[in-house]
Amino acid sequence: MNNKNSDLGFSTRAIHHGYNPQEHQGALIPPIYLTSTFTFATAEYGAGCFAGQEPGYFYTRIGNPTLALLESRMADLENGEAAVAFGSGMGAIAATFWTLLRPGDEVIVNRTLYGCTFALLHHGLEEFGVKVRHVDMTDPQNLRAAISPATRMVYFESPANPNMQLVDITAVARIVRQHPNITLAVDNTYCTPYLQRPLDLGADLVVHSATKYLCGHGDITAGIVVTRQELAQKIRLQGLKDLTGAVMSPQDAFLLMRGLKTLSLRMDRHCSNALAVARYLQAHPLVQWVAYPGLPSFTQYALAKRQMKLPGGMIAFELKGGLPSGCGFMNALQLFSRAVSLGDAESLAQHPASMTHSTYTPEERAAHGIAEGLVRLSVGLEDIDDLLADLAQALEACAPIAVAAPAQENASRLDKVLP
Ligand SMILES: Cc1ncc(COP(=O)(O)O)c(C=O)c1O
Repeated sequence: MNNKNSDLGFSTRAIHHGYNPQEHQGALIPPIYLTSTFTFATAEYGAGCFAGQEPGYFYTRIGNPTLALLESRMADLENGEAAVAFGSGMGAIAATFWTLLRPGDEVIVNRTLYGCTFALLHHGLEEFGVKVRHVDMTDPQNLRAAISPATRMVYFESPANPNMQLVDITAVARIVRQHPNITLAVDNTYCTPYLQRPLDLGADLVVHSATKYLCGHGDITAGIVVTRQELAQKIRLQGLKDLTGAVMSPQDAFLLMRGLKTLSLRMDRHCSNALAVARYLQAHPLVQWVAYPGLPSFTQYALAKRQMKLPGGMIAFELKGGLPSGCGFMNALQLFSRAVSLGDAESLAQHPASMTHSTYTPEERAAHGIAEGLVRLSVGLEDIDDLLADLAQALEACAPIAVAAPAQENASRLDKVLP
């Protein structure tokens, strides 16, 4: 199958793009090039590879045929020109920031970010002289007002981890497009290109924690950047090769391509299961609030319908009684696993304030819209009746805690934490 196949459907491309078995001894499944280095027929050819004058592979940290196939497939699925694979999502994000930002530059990011991205910015880049500015991008006009001559990058997640706030990618892109020296980057981990394609909506660059839905089986850590050819090459040669060295292993690229084959099927099931779970939680008397883009009560429901093909598999909610009830609920779960990460076949529950977002101080969490009692669910692929039964028994088990909790435990204010 050649690379000019954009008239084919998403699932077909996720299975076939870029691979022709006849070029690989007829092997139906792409071989894994499990090698760190590549031999040169002559010294001159090797020198040409290093000089960028020969097209060959020379060292897996810079390129490898198994990684190249994955990269071309991911670029195709995101409707981008080129992709670069990394050993983790944080590898992809760090390489992008380090490549694009210099001391004195400013990056404008959304109010809420995944905990380690927040830490990379505030405990890493800021110490090297990059200015980090948070703006509530749920209103894109806030961004327009915040852009300064030093701004070089605008970055957000939509939905944001963990509070599910969305950003109108088209509206933000319209503002950023007026500034040719600003790169607009979107973390598309929660959606995958099956649900949302930020490049089609005007973004310059997409990053993924491919550890999550793209892989889908919880057995690797991986990251991807998709962008224009020349920018991808810059990120490969600076951010990947020199600044982070965060290369993906060929074996993990193989597992990731295996996951991609079922991405559309899995996302459909994640989304239908999550919608049923969100509806169940919303109707439960112990639940204080639920944030899920598929509920008509979600403040950005109209934007979700416009921007996302389906509402995704992630849910944030808080119980009456706040944190103590949330802990009681999590401890009572039997089928949902208490674990961070997301996008796996197994349903997962975690408490961001003490886990994925413990990189924020309590004051920072309050300022960045992360409620202390927020429980995050990654709804998996199990039978929905079994998931609902598990939630029902866990809610029943924690009911005495919720009822006994003093009124101020219920004080996690909707207007502070929800869009
Ligand atoms: C939205 C988002 N971006 C990036 C990352 C980082 O990815 P990784 O854990 O693969 O380094 C995560 C991890 O949870 C995430 O949720």
